[in-house]
Amino acid sequence: MPKVKFQNTGEEEEIELGAELKEVTKDAGWPIAYGCEDGVCGTCIVKVVDGEENLNPMEETEKQTLGIMGLDEGGYRLACQCKCNGSCTIEGM
Ligand code: FES
Repeated sequence: MPKVKFQNTGEEEEIELGAELKEVTKDAGWPIAYGCEDGVCGTCIVKVVDGEENLNPMEETEKQTLGIMGLDEGGYRLACQCKCNGSCTIEGM
């Protein structure tokens, strides 16, 4: 079963394919803050340390928000916009 790992603490959660990263982090109680939950405010930024290829491609809103923040390179994603199609490791910012 695929897993999401939280780099900050080393904790891991088993997930169903297609799980929303937002729900995984909330269910696990990992300290990632959410605001709009719509890819606009940038509150939920995480760095994808491993398994970036297992996340859904970015849509335009997420790209724009990360671009405004100057974080459109380097493996950053907005957790509220990510679906997990396999294992990945994220780091909270
Ligand atoms: S909660 Fe606002 S961008 Fe994710």
